[in-house]
Amino acid sequence: MKFEAQHAVQWIQKANDKIQEHKDELTELDRKIGDGDHGINMARGFQEAADEVSAGDLSGVPDVLKQTATTVMSKVGGASGPLYGTAFLKMSMAVKDEAVDYKQFVGMIEAALGGIKQRGKSEEGEKTMIDVWSPVYEAMKDADDFDAALIKDTASSSMEATKEMTATKGRASYLKERSKDHLDPGAVSSYYLFEALSETLKEEG
Ligand SMILES: Nc1ncnc2c1ncn2[C@@H]1O[C@H](COP(=O)(O)OP(=O)(O)OP(=O)(O)O)[C@@H](O)[C@H]1O
Ligand SMILES: [Mg+2]
Repeated sequence: MKFEAQHAVQWIQKANDKIQEHKDELTELDRKIGDGDHGINMARGFQEAADEVSAGDLSGVPDVLKQTATTVMSKVGGASGPLYGTAFLKMSMAVKDEAVDYKQFVGMIEAALGGIKQRGKSEEGEKTMIDVWSPVYEAMKDADDFDAALIKDTASSSMEATKEMTATKGRASYLKERSKDHLDPGAVSSYYLFEALSETLKEEG
């Protein structure tokens, strides 16, 4: 399949649905190792992003992702707003065609991961959203075509793995060892983004 503008729109809509549904869970996780605003931040920004991309006047994947980036950047706030904003912006800049094939899509995820790392001055293993984006990128790089189950399963297991990690970036790092035994809120919201992507791909067959 080719990933088209309508798929990108569905991705953002589904991501928003999941974030609204799990808003309190994200906030609760952030209350444990952060300041308790992650669910509220994400729900505000993704609702706005979903509304905007649903208006139906965006003609290609880069346009949909660029619109999402702008909205997420300005409406989510906190640390995650600029990080997710950068991820979507880098994805939009990674491709020029209105519809993208699998290899191009993997290039988009690679660009997003690079953008988050650069913006957050962070690496793998610091108990952040990177610990979901990086394994998903690695798994996708080794595959030949869109694989909905691979994306969801990789995002799920890597999100779970943040529980054992000690945070060295973001507010959770203030807790040092006490950040252990809790899932990272940004890793969980990233899981929902990839679960939404997986479901978008699955519907396409
Ligand atoms: N430097 C970083 N690099 C990558 N991800 C990060 C970084 N700092 C925070 N994060 C991610 O952002 C999530 C927290 O997002 P949230 O919107 O709650 O920001 P915040 O920490 O409350 O920001 P602020 O302190 O500015 O209010 C973390 O769970 C983590 O996944
Ligand atoms: Mg927070």
